[in-house]
Amino acid sequence: EDGQSRVADANPVGTNHRRLRSRGWFDNPGNPDMTALYIERYLNYGLSLEELQSDRPIIGIAQSGSDLVPCNRHHLVLADRVREGIRDAGGIAIEFPTHPIQETGKRPTAGLDRNLAYMALVEVLYGYPLDGVVLTIGCDKTTPAALMAAATVDIPAIALSVGPMLNGWFKGARTGSGTIVWKARELLAAGEIDYQGFIRLVASSAPSTGYCNTMGTATTMNSLAEALGMSLPGSAAIPAPYRDRQECAWETGKRIVEMVRANRRPSDIMTRAAFLNAIRVNSAIGGSTNAPIHLNAMARHIGVELTLADWEEHGADVPLLVNLQPAGEYLGEDYYRAGGVPAVMGELLRAGLLDGSALTANGRSVAENVGEARSEDEDVIRPFARPLRPHAGLTVLSGNLFDGAVMKLSVISEAFRARFLSDPDDPDAFEGRVVVFDGPEDYHARIEDPALGIDERTILVIRGAGPVGYPGGAEVVNMRPPAALIRAGVHNLPCIGDGRQSGTSYSPSILNAAPEAAMGGGLALLETGDRVRIDLKRRRADVLLDEAELARRRAGLAEIEERITPESQTPWQEIQRGITGQFDTGATLEPAVKYQRIAETKGLPRDSH
Ligand code: FES
Ligand code: MG
Repeated sequence: EDGQSRVADANPVGTNHRRLRSRGWFDNPGNPDMTALYIERYLNYGLSLEELQSDRPIIGIAQSGSDLVPCNRHHLVLADRVREGIRDAGGIAIEFPTHPIQETGKRPTAGLDRNLAYMALVEVLYGYPLDGVVLTIGCDKTTPAALMAAATVDIPAIALSVGPMLNGWFKGARTGSGTIVWKARELLAAGEIDYQGFIRLVASSAPSTGYCNTMGTATTMNSLAEALGMSLPGSAAIPAPYRDRQECAWETGKRIVEMVRANRRPSDIMTRAAFLNAIRVNSAIGGSTNAPIHLNAMARHIGVELTLADWEEHGADVPLLVNLQPAGEYLGEDYYRAGGVPAVMGELLRAGLLDGSALTANGRSVAENVGEARSEDEDVIRPFARPLRPHAGLTVLSGNLFDGAVMKLSVISEAFRARFLSDPDDPDAFEGRVVVFDGPEDYHARIEDPALGIDERTILVIRGAGPVGYPGGAEVVNMRPPAALIRAGVHNLPCIGDGRQSGTSYSPSILNAAPEAAMGGGLALLETGDRVRIDLKRRRADVLLDEAELARRRAGLAEIEERITPESQTPWQEIQRGITGQFDTGATLEPAVKYQRIAETKGLPRDSH
């Protein structure tokens, strides 16, 4: 890829369009005491007065990589190239750490930390002498946390993806992050591999630095950051170890300095048109069901109207073009070689599904960036006329179990239809008997119990997994069937839950149910043996009980809520539980939403001394 093509209006010796906010710290003749105090500490490692007082943009590098976050760890290396880019364009780089978020390692959930990292980054971006910021993104929730903070503060910001790991291989077949776990679990349950074999098989999916190489939440969110226009076009899919990734880091560093000089802010880029573009791209890539939570949160923080209904209205009819696991067969390296996000967006743009006028981080419009982009491998990124599936978006359901929950349309297979069809004349209505679990521990303890009577027409329900019940919300909705059913060839059952589902899983699930059971949602009223009807045409999911029975059960609600809501274990668990919204509106910190574009609306913070 030609490096120059990603960057427009390069202006390395350009002048700033306005007084830099950093000069409020470093060059304020009206308050020499504080100016001296601010400056002396940044001189102490070798910066010079000349650099700090010469109207050169001070650019933060929000470093999300560390030994605790292996998915983003390569940013420790990339940051050197970002610094060189910043310096080459005339800026001064100041790198600082963000609160770590690693999806699989953080207990009880990484979801709990998204809002914590968000809040901490807002404080840093607003409270320090930064004119712009490079947001280093990667692992699932590191991307929304950073973009949510950039939205709230609204200083010039650009995202740099760390890139996916190289493809994983085992005995000649691709093994993908997360996705291989579901398959390995089945093999283990079926007795085909042992414990050590299980671990070796799963580990084969992580052959290098980088984030999950499947179309999980990480690849999804990095692709959507690019689709939104918040990173350079072509940047999301570059695998972490590739040399192109280093070049991209340098270009990103150069570009943020130009963005500061042009005063190009997240609010210029993250418009409603950009979010609708991202919704459509999410369908075409087969993106994670975590995407609506995160994009809705970002939109709320920047003051753009975006609801779950928009996901259905604008995304449901978009075809699936990207053949990546878990929906398809390939992995991250293939995605990059086939053209990555620009190839996907080029297809959608020519089909009239994108707003080509949306502005992006390189100063050009979507149409200018991707108008000519095409798939380089039509097996991996399909042309619009030959999709993998015709409808790949989400459907949004409501009913007496919840006000809002999402389901990926593409996971509804023929086998699923055949098993759960309740009325041959109504092929969009399904019915099944439910088996209810109170959280993942209860599921693991009882899933093999024959007394539950789980068969191929059972719907598995899990509750107590939402943002309050399982602080942050756990990715536990995708539950594998009992071993006997797997041996009989039934590899998944539909699941319903108030938690999330891992983006690397491809179970037919209804998830992110809001309100959650711990907050009085209808899932709290379900009992094993109830029948649930899902009507896709009417977008309803209901338990088939009369109002009298529901009222009887509602009387016991407090007791159920208490049973599925364990005590908080940390201060943040308790604080977040008190102020988090539900999944349908992004699970944001509700008191934070009113703080928008604060660099502008609140001016500079007061001096510290
Ligand atoms: Fe970090 Fe998948 S666990 S990217
Ligand atoms: Mg995940």
